[in-house]
Amino acid sequence: MPEDHRMPDHTETLGAALVRHGIGRRDLLRFALAMTASLALPPGIAPVMAENLARAKRRSVIWLSIQDCTGCLEALLQSSSPTLESIIFDFISLDYQETLMAAAGSTADRMLWDAVAANKGEYLLAIDGSIPVKDGGVYALTGGRSTVGIVEALAADAKAVLAIGTCAAYGGIPKAYPNPTGAVGVEDLISGTPIVNIPGCPPMPDVLSGILVYFISFGRLPALDERKRPLAYYGTTIHDRCYRRSFYDRGQFAQSFDDDGARQGWCLFELGCKGPITHNACASLKWGGGTSFPIESGHGCLGCAEPNFWDAGSFYTSLAGGSPTGWQNASMAAAVGLAGGAAAALLARDKADPDPEETPP
Ligand code: SF4
Ligand code: SF4
Ligand code: F3S
Repeated sequence: MPEDHRMPDHTETLGAALVRHGIGRRDLLRFALAMTASLALPPGIAPVMAENLARAKRRSVIWLSIQDCTGCLEALLQSSSPTLESIIFDFISLDYQETLMAAAGSTADRMLWDAVAANKGEYLLAIDGSIPVKDGGVYALTGGRSTVGIVEALAADAKAVLAIGTCAAYGGIPKAYPNPTGAVGVEDLISGTPIVNIPGCPPMPDVLSGILVYFISFGRLPALDERKRPLAYYGTTIHDRCYRRSFYDRGQFAQSFDDDGARQGWCLFELGCKGPITHNACASLKWGGGTSFPIESGHGCLGCAEPNFWDAGSFYTSLAGGSPTGWQNASMAAAVGLAGGAAAALLARDKADPDPEETPP
């Protein structure tokens, strides 16, 4: 029996598709207002975004999962603004995603290459997981081909590549010592096609939604920083937006996860929080539809969105290093560029009690 893998219809406008789903212009404007806020754009742009979205066609997205744990996709399925489900049905045409698609084997393989041929130069290539390049890339094969070659071929014909998660952006956990497969991030392999890094282990679902909606609305990528991360979401650190920041500035640091300070919401810096050097939107967008984020749940940030996560590790060692009351706290705090408040507080405390070995009360 011939296999049926017809390509999806990319000619319908989003406006028409949304009307079909009972979503009117006012809803679309409300949605655009929420997205402009998420993307840190002036609210005046919302009507333009709504108009552009209504006129836009669904954009083909081809999604490869390589050395991944499925955590990125799991997290993205929990997106709340809009849900990935609605993105898939309304905003993009997800033409290939091995985990979500029903097809398998040679049918899936043919769908991949048909989608590439039909959308050459126009599709977005999404990648989660790192790419193993050691030994000719034998550690990840799809349809008998090395994923190194597949990524290179697909990236060459893509409009842009979205490196989703810390593994795809920087190599992540598969790259951790001793990195037996020679895992690398997308930017270590690909040049010549624009790349957007969306780090996080997993990344924030609302960040991917924002990038997709921006791209569909304006036909270009949002402003990126020097690490190819969207500035709107990675332009500040967790520390910059953390609700415990006033405790940090006053030098009030929990010394254990169950002491009185921790119960009162004091800063988790001395318990190893990496918020001061981690760029991500957790403290502002939060997870679970704005419910909470790791620090609000009582645990310091692990730095999961930064390069060298996991090897940088030392999850419970303060960024200030060593003894929690040592002199090195203040000098190290200054070295990692912490705001003056905590460094000054540590310095004042250390001056009052210069014995680096003393146990805090
Ligand atoms: Fe899994 Fe984290 Fe890698 Fe995503 S970034 S594939 S959640 S290990
Ligand atoms: Fe929040 Fe961590 Fe900064 Fe303390 S060190 S204010 S807990 S981000
Ligand atoms: Fe990761 Fe830190 Fe956010 S550990 S989930 S970047 S608070």
